Formats: sequence, structure tokens, C-alpha cells
Amino acid sequence: MTKLIAPSILAADFANLQRDIEMVNQSEADWFHIDIMDGVFVPNISFGMPVLKAISKHAKKTIDVHLMIADPDRYIQTFADLGANVLTVHYEACTHLHRTLQTIKAAGMEAGVALNPHTNVSLLEDVIKDIDLVCIMSVNPGFGGQKFIQNTYDKVAKLKEIIVKHNATTKIEIDGGVNADNAEALVNAGADVLVAGSFVFGSADPLATIKDLKQKVN
Ligand code: DX5
Ligand code: ZN
Repeated sequence: MTKLIAPSILAADFANLQRDIEMVNQSEADWFHIDIMDGVFVPNISFGMPVLKAISKHAKKTIDVHLMIADPDRYIQTFADLGANVLTVHYEACTHLHRTLQTIKAAGMEAGVALNPHTNVSLLEDVIKDIDLVCIMSVNPGFGGQKFIQNTYDKVAKLKEIIVKHNATTKIEIDGGVNADNAEALVNAGADVLVAGSFVFGSADPLATIKDLKQKVN
């Protein structure tokens, strides 16, 4: 399967959002990764519904929404209405994860679960068949531009084993500190989707950076 690149809009220039969205549209990237933070589940606030609505209007690729919010069930239908194609909630923010996954799918989206660095991948084994995407956080969620946590490789490999064991079709996404130095090793460990924020938008030529990243892993 083709490995996917998902630029994280958190690292875009919000005063030139349309320009940066068009750049991703023109690029070899596959998804838009959209980080929603509520200042409760994570110690930062990013942006919310009106901004996602504006992004959706221009984005021509899959919209992958990463909810870093407490009690995400409250907003599942809202995010579907705003154009999310993949909706990822945090394991640590859901009391009834199985029900949340069903609600996301019933709203017509793919269902994702994100894991904080301290959360063991084995906790997803009983629901793995119900999960379209597992987002392994390779930094502590809340901020872009942080250093990649090395034990991510082990987590990816362990999760891949669980997916294969259950004959599931779940994709593995890596989020945080992804760059040209770790992309290949992540894919070799079993990753399918690489989120990259500051590495893409902080580079001199984001189009070329996306192209290089995509070529490196395919
Ligand atoms: C962190 C966010 C990430 C972030 C990645 O909480 O979930 O998606 O934007 O940014 P980089 O690639 O700069 O680590
Ligand atoms: Zn994210």
C-alpha cells in the first residue's frame, strides 16, 4: 500500500492559510492533518470550528482531524458536518471508546484513536477491528516542533503485530517530530501515514520537502 504524507496545518502561516492550503493541494501530500486543541485535554489551544470550515472550503484532499479535546463525543456530528473525513479521538479522553468509534462511523467518517506516548498499544487490542486509524503520538500532544520520542519505533512494531494477528485493516499514523531522518525507519516498522508539521512548513521549499518525504517512503 502507498504510504501517505499528511502535512499538519498547525505549522502553516495562519495569516496566509489559503496560500498554504493551495500549496498542499498542489503537492504530493495525501491528507490535510488538522489539530484541534481545547486547552483542557492538552495545555494549548489551536483553533476551532470556524477555521476548520474555512479550511474545508479550499482543501481538495482527505481531511484528517486530530481531536485533542476532552469528551470528544459532544462534537462528532459537528466535525462530520464541517467536512472531516477521518476523525481521531484520544484514547485517554474517552470513557466509552467503543461507543465513540461507532458514533464516528455512523456519522460517515473513518474512526481514529490517538495514543499519548505513555499509553500502551496493547490497550487497543479488543477494539482493533473497529479502528480505521491508530495515531501514535511521537511527542506529547499540544505543540508542534517538538523532539521525536525514540521508543515510537517499538510501539509501531507492537501495534503492527496486533493488527496482523487480528487480520485488521487499521492504518498506523505517526504524529510529532517526523522528518526526513526518521520517516523511512517509521515506515519500515509498520507506519502507513506520516504527519509532518514544522518539517514541511518550516522548510525553504515545502513542495519539494513533501515530494522528498513521499519518495523516501514509497
Ligand atoms: C501535536 C500535533 C501534531 C503537530 C506535529 O500535538 O498533534 O500534529 O502539529 O507537528 P510537528 O511535525 O512539528 O512535530
Ligand atoms: Zn496531530
